[in-house]
Amino acid sequence: MTSSPLSGKHIVLGITGGIAAYKSAMLTRLLVKAGAEVQVIMTPNAREFITPVTLSTLSGKPVITDFFSANTGEWHSHVDLGLWADAFVVAPATASTIAKMACGVADNMLVTSYLSTRARVFIAPAMDFDMMRHPSTARNIATLRADGCVIIEAAEGELASHLTGKGRMEEPENIVRVLEDAFRPAASSLSGKKILITAGPTYEKIDPVRFIGNYSTGRMGYAIANEAAARGAEVTIVSGPVGHFDLHPGVTVVHVESAIEMLEQSQKAFADADIAILAAAVADYRPAVRYDSKIKREEDGIRSIELVKNPDIAATLGNAKRPGQFLAGFALETDHELDNARRKLARKNLDMIVLNSLRDPGAGFGVPTNKVTLVFAGNDPIVELPLKPKTEVAADILDYISR
Ligand code: C5P
Repeated sequence: MTSSPLSGKHIVLGITGGIAAYKSAMLTRLLVKAGAEVQVIMTPNAREFITPVTLSTLSGKPVITDFFSANTGEWHSHVDLGLWADAFVVAPATASTIAKMACGVADNMLVTSYLSTRARVFIAPAMDFDMMRHPSTARNIATLRADGCVIIEAAEGELASHLTGKGRMEEPENIVRVLEDAFRPAASSLSGKKILITAGPTYEKIDPVRFIGNYSTGRMGYAIANEAAARGAEVTIVSGPVGHFDLHPGVTVVHVESAIEMLEQSQKAFADADIAILAAAVADYRPAVRYDSKIKREEDGIRSIELVKNPDIAATLGNAKRPGQFLAGFALETDHELDNARRKLARKNLDMIVLNSLRDPGAGFGVPTNKVTLVFAGNDPIVELPLKPKTEVAADILDYISR
């Protein structure tokens, strides 16, 4: 099953006081089913139309109406909510709330959060026919459109007033469809781009039957490769030894074993790549001597293996980088994460580092999820992403690179 583009998205659902508020229960249910996290904010009037208990049960989060919780006195931060949101949806949106949003009135939690949000805003108006066609409503809707809000037009039909005309809130299924379309990465957003990805561990041979390796499974790199190909890119993945992954037809795999082989193949692919994302866990050292026959067990004493340094693929490509090429690396850190990531960014001449900390449960090697922080060269602020499936982390990484 393919996941919804809304999976993992944070959605603030604003519900205002209109008869269509009963449909918001179904809308909440559908958004949650699509994998979104939904925080409902109700205007005081909306509570006359549908109970907060229904919505908090369906969304799995307490509904917010007031600036303060009546029970605990806890302050609900409209700024935090506004920033938390990936999408800010008002459905149903009454004439009154639309007017307030258009004019920047901030007299309840919903419209105040609207003023604080940087998320994409979607408004599904619902009101009586005459209110809908009133010049002031038309003017306010035009203002909101000009402000960048998406208006999900009301449908025609019988209204609560028994009048027939335009004013029914669009059906929840269709509202979800509009949101999914807005969050679906354009299938062609990376079309024409050549992308190199390194993935998996490297194996450094000791003798014909033994090697030095690590626990990397390649899952993160393959997720990025598939997502990039789904967006139209021509992807080459230079892969260390890994298990089986289903591959998008747009991905070509070049299998390698050692860091030196990975370097050679990566240099070839980097020559005409637009973007390189280095997700491989490359062994830092390899045995100085590779034995042609199996090393025999010593009956006594300790056997040591002398190691020599492997080439740094990221730094080598960073050195060769041309203007217009984008180079991203990964960093797995245990302490002073940000400082180390910034230092690596500079030393290897990278444009971005995807930082995962071994301190975060669910992040790193061998698990299907990851929790990463994106650190950029230059002055772009760092982006801390929540714990999510590696497929979604892959999509986020490509979103940021595309930007
Ligand atoms: O220095 P460190 O190993 O922490 O850097 C991690 C980043 O550098 C990753 O993107 C990794 O793929 C890359 N790397 C590399 N060649 C090495 C070591 C690391 O490309 N020899």
